[in-house]
Amino acid sequence: MSDALPFLGSLRLGGLVIDPPLLLAPMAGYTHAPFRALCRRRGCGLAFTEVITAAGIARRVPATLHYLTTWPGERPVAAHIYGAEPQAMADAARVIESLGQFDLIDINCGCPAPKITRKGAGVALMRDPDRVYAIVRAVVRATALPVTVKTRIGLSPDEASLPAVAQAVEAGGAQALFVHARFAIDQHTGPVHLDALRRAKQERAIPVIGNGGIRTGPNAARMLRETGVDGLMIGRAALGNPWVFDEVRCHLAGQPYAPPSADERLAVLAEHLHGLYQQVQVGHHLQRRPRFTDEGAACRQFRGHLARYLAGVPHASRWRVQLLAAESIAEVLTAAAQALAG
Ligand SMILES: Cc1cc2nc3c(=O)[nH]c(=O)nc-3n(C[C@H](O)[C@H](O)[C@H](O)COP(=O)(O)O)c2cc1C
Repeated sequence: MSDALPFLGSLRLGGLVIDPPLLLAPMAGYTHAPFRALCRRRGCGLAFTEVITAAGIARRVPATLHYLTTWPGERPVAAHIYGAEPQAMADAARVIESLGQFDLIDINCGCPAPKITRKGAGVALMRDPDRVYAIVRAVVRATALPVTVKTRIGLSPDEASLPAVAQAVEAGGAQALFVHARFAIDQHTGPVHLDALRRAKQERAIPVIGNGGIRTGPNAARMLRETGVDGLMIGRAALGNPWVFDEVRCHLAGQPYAPPSADERLAVLAEHLHGLYQQVQVGHHLQRRPRFTDEGAACRQFRGHLARYLAGVPHASRWRVQLLAAESIAEVLTAAAQALAG
């Protein structure tokens, strides 16, 4: 096999051009607007919201609509929704389009969380290609925005239904397929099956984007080379490291990449936390009896990201207790600065 770097051109879905086709995966609890905007400015071509209930959007439940908050400068951005009823999914698509803030609607067929699969949605849909077809068709008819679907390769090796589901996705009129190349039983950490991804790419005419286990330029190149997919989607490697998109882009272009300095890391961490605080303030009126101040709530929501910004920093554990107990932005930033200074 050639060692030449695979070429990653831009990706066109209807009128939407994604350039580069390096995508931030939807991650519940993490891919809020401030984080998406940070990734977009560092080489990510398209980012996804957290997973949002179509039924709640269709009924315009204020707390659900808050998840559709977008940030200046983050377009293009995709709304990522779940549901099992074609009508509710179509109604949600109409509401999303009417907001005028989104460039694409993505249907979740990969989430294994029981609260979603119990309703027949998420990865449970991979047992029912006919329903996938009906949902995609209903959503495509309801909106002029490009419609896409994110799947797994199946629930388990005994239910490796990607080929049938991918066919239903394409027949329903979706513009692209995003494949997390793991089985649902393997959650987010099992083996990534590049052979299944390659087969989906070979069998389908619509663009197929690969996802699963991309952490560095070289393993992004490997997925492209071994599967021929049209783009790449990155999840966990972007947490605490929005620079990963630039790293991958530089690697594929054969250009040098300079990792961020400690000062830049701190500046981005601070921008992220301030952005999250702003977002919490916007949603404040939705909380019935808030348990924390807005600042405290933002610091708590930020903890998952914070741990990842400091992952691999020598001696960061010394500041861990302080960092995880911090309830004010000033406290978080002081402890983070000390940790990053080593
Ligand atoms: C915390 C977390 C939340 C996630 N939430 C979603 C989700 O809401 N919808 C979805 O389709 N996938 C979700 N995923 C899966 C990711 O989108 C992605 O497919 C998976 O992490 C594999 O990519 P990676 O190996 O690059 O992390 C989530 C993953 C993580 C780690």
